[in-house]
Amino acid sequence: MSELLATVEAAFEDSYGHAPHHVVRAPGRVNLMGDHTDYNQGLVLPCALQYHTMVAVSPRNDSHCEVVALDCGGERDRFACEQAIPFHSAQSWSNYVRGIIETLRRHDYPLPGCNLLIHGDIPQESGLSSSAALEVGVLLAVAVTGGFSIDRVAGARICQSAENDFVGCACGIMDQLVCLCAEVDSALAIDCRSLQYRAVKLPTDFRVVIIETGVRRALVAGEYNLRRQQCEQAASELGVGSLRDVSLVSFEQTQRHLNDVIARRARHVLEENQRVLDMVSAFDQGDSLAVGHLMFQSHESLSRLYEVSTPEVDTLVALLGEALGGHGGARMTGGGFGGCVVTLIPENRCSVLNEVMTRYRDMTGLCATALPAEPSAAAGLLY
Ligand code: GLA
Repeated sequence: MSELLATVEAAFEDSYGHAPHHVVRAPGRVNLMGDHTDYNQGLVLPCALQYHTMVAVSPRNDSHCEVVALDCGGERDRFACEQAIPFHSAQSWSNYVRGIIETLRRHDYPLPGCNLLIHGDIPQESGLSSSAALEVGVLLAVAVTGGFSIDRVAGARICQSAENDFVGCACGIMDQLVCLCAEVDSALAIDCRSLQYRAVKLPTDFRVVIIETGVRRALVAGEYNLRRQQCEQAASELGVGSLRDVSLVSFEQTQRHLNDVIARRARHVLEENQRVLDMVSAFDQGDSLAVGHLMFQSHESLSRLYEVSTPEVDTLVALLGEALGGHGGARMTGGGFGGCVVTLIPENRCSVLNEVMTRYRDMTGLCATALPAEPSAAAGLLY
C-alpha cells in the first residue's frame, strides 16, 4: 500500500505541480456467497480486499474538475461541475468519475472544483469490482474537498445510482456497500432489501484465495441486464414486487406457471439467498465441511440454473473439488462469464493449488493465476 501511495503522490505532483491535499483508498471485493441476489433485494456475503484504487485530490479555484487516470496511460478528463455533466463518448473510465459528480450535483451537494488523480492495483476486468472502488474513491475525495460528509449507506446508493443511471449498468448495491462498510478479517452479510449488514468473522485456519481463470469476460453487460429482466419477469408473474417476497415453499407450488428458463433463474435466486444464511451459520459455528459444500452447490446453481459460468470456469471448479476432497470449497464469483473463482482453503492444503492450475492449463490451454486475498477494511481517507 505504501508503494502505491508513493506512486500516487509523485504522479499527482507531476501532473498538477503541487502535493495532493488528501488521498483516499477504496478496496476491491470478492463475493464468498450470494451472486445475482443483490438486485433481487436478496442476501450477499462479500469481503473487501487488500487491493485498492487510490484517489488523490486537491481543491481548485474554479468550479472545474480535472482528472488523470494513471492506469489508463495517463489519460485526462476535464469538465465543468456547475451544470449538467455530459456522458463521455470516448473514455469509459471517465464516466465513473463524471457519474459520481453528476449524481452529487443532482442531490444538491456543494461541489468543489478539484484536481484528481487515480491509480490502483485491483486487477481490472476480473470481476473484483475495480469500478465500484473507483466510484467510492471519487465520492470520498470530492466529499472531503467539498467539506461535507455522507453516511456510508447513502454513499453506496449514490454510487449505485451513478452506475445505473449514468454509466448504464443495472448493477445491484453489493459492490459499493461492501467497499464502504467492510471490516477487516471479516465478510459482510448484507440484506440488500433493508441495507442492514453485519460483519461475520472468517475462520482463522482458512485462507481466501482468488483464482483468475484467464477467461476474458465477454457479453457481461448485455447478459447481466437480461438476467435482471428475467428475475423481474419471474417476480411479476408470481405477483410480487421482488423475488425476496417469494418463499421456496410457495415457489414449489406456483413455479409451474413460469416458463422453464424463468423458473430456473428464480430458483437460483431463492436457493442462493438460503445458502447465504447457511454460510453465515457455518462460519459462526466453524463448520468448514458445510462451508465447502455450500460453495460447490452455489457454483452448480450459477452454472446450470443461472447460466453465467463458462466451460473453462466449470473445469477449474471441478478440479478444485477433486483436489480439496471436501476440505474447503470453490465457486465462480461476481457477475460471471469469466473472471475469477473464489476458494476457501484450509491453511495446510494451499499447496494443492499449483497442481490444480497445471492440470487446468493442460485441459483448457489457459493460464490461471492465484491471488491471495486478505479480507480488509472499508474505504477511507489516508489523510
Ligand atoms: C456484479 C454487480 C453486482 C452483483 C454481481 C453478481 O458484480 O456489480 O451488483 O449483481 O455482479 O452477484
